[in-house]
Amino acid sequence: MFGTTEIIEGHTKLIVPSDHSKGGPGKRTDSVFFNEQMAFNRDVSVMFLRALDKDVTVADAMCATGSRAVRIANEVPNAKEVVANDADPKTMDFVTANIDINLLTNCRASNKDLNVLFSEEAFDYVDIDPFGPPVHFIQAAIKGCRKNGILAITATDTAVLAGAQRKKCERRYQSRPIRGAMCHEMGLRILMCSIVKELAKFDRGMEPMLSFYADHYFRTYVRVTEGAQNADKALSKLMYVKYEQGALERLHSDSPDSEYRYGPFWGGNLHSSSHLNMMDASFTAEERRCGKMLDLWRNELDTVPFIYDISELSSFLKISPPPMDDFIAALNEIGVASRTHISPTSFKTDLELKDVVTVYRCMPRG
Ligand SMILES: C[S@@+](CC[C@H](N)C(=O)[O-])C[C@H]1O[C@@H](n2cnc3c(N)ncnc32)[C@H](O)[C@@H]1O
Repeated sequence: MFGTTEIIEGHTKLIVPSDHSKGGPGKRTDSVFFNEQMAFNRDVSVMFLRALDKDVTVADAMCATGSRAVRIANEVPNAKEVVANDADPKTMDFVTANIDINLLTNCRASNKDLNVLFSEEAFDYVDIDPFGPPVHFIQAAIKGCRKNGILAITATDTAVLAGAQRKKCERRYQSRPIRGAMCHEMGLRILMCSIVKELAKFDRGMEPMLSFYADHYFRTYVRVTEGAQNADKALSKLMYVKYEQGALERLHSDSPDSEYRYGPFWGGNLHSSSHLNMMDASFTAEERRCGKMLDLWRNELDTVPFIYDISELSSFLKISPPPMDDFIAALNEIGVASRTHISPTSFKTDLELKDVVTVYRCMPRG
């Protein structure tokens, strides 16, 4: 095909536009979308699906070149049937070429608006990967998700979710975002909250399986749970936050008031530890990065909603930071603390702020 190039990602050959994006959020152009930097994101889908203990049907509802769908069909032995769908007719030459070049018999091209696709068919795993916010597609994705199926949703409107455009976030997600050291963790939790609220409209709840921030996007994989009770259970895990930028204290509450004015946010876990333990980085495109992230996700305190950054403590207390590992080890002597996947200088702990500050002050410094 003219203006195309062939690459290998993971164990899959991909024909993609020669002028594709190499990094960042990717350009929205007249040509078919492909971003090389999202190889890690696609690796995670492959690891995630391989770790399920049964055969699954998969819909990559906004597939562009079909890169994710084709990798799943080629690299996930339990992917029984994969639909590579995109509404844009220009994508179909890429999708069919990618299915053919990998000799796939478990992958089919589909050229429909995802609203049409999900009014006709339902799947065990539904993937939504739009330009920008996913909010306009979540209801359709829920309809296309079989009982106890999985929704995998990307949001690339990172600045909005992380509080740089508060009004836009309030309109789009009906949540008030937070600026400062917590902004990415809380942006992820706004995305998850918006999924809980959409699912509740259908008497369905959710259990997170893997949720993360990376590069320029947020991504969450959630298991859909059935029934009004499960919807209520998920709604009961939403929370509001009291926080002043520049202060260290953060507190949460079940209901909003003039002090607890940020949110609502998802206040439960980010991951399923049993699923993470089944995931394996072997044979991915970016094995090293995948292995490192699996390690961080497995070890972070994902049920603790608040993150601190060591630079916040240092500028607030006017004391230079100790080495991160030593500080986390010291916190773990009196409570529980971990690094987080969000940033190398952030940590989480179940300790009260006064204890965190005491430990910080007492740390030996070179
Ligand atoms: C960011 S790209 C997807 C990238 C792709 N998942 C990958 O990994 O390379 C978003 C795609 O969604 C498609 N799209 C937008 N609205 C759609 C809709 N309503 N139904 C189906 N596809 C849609 C666009 O044509 C575009 O190809």
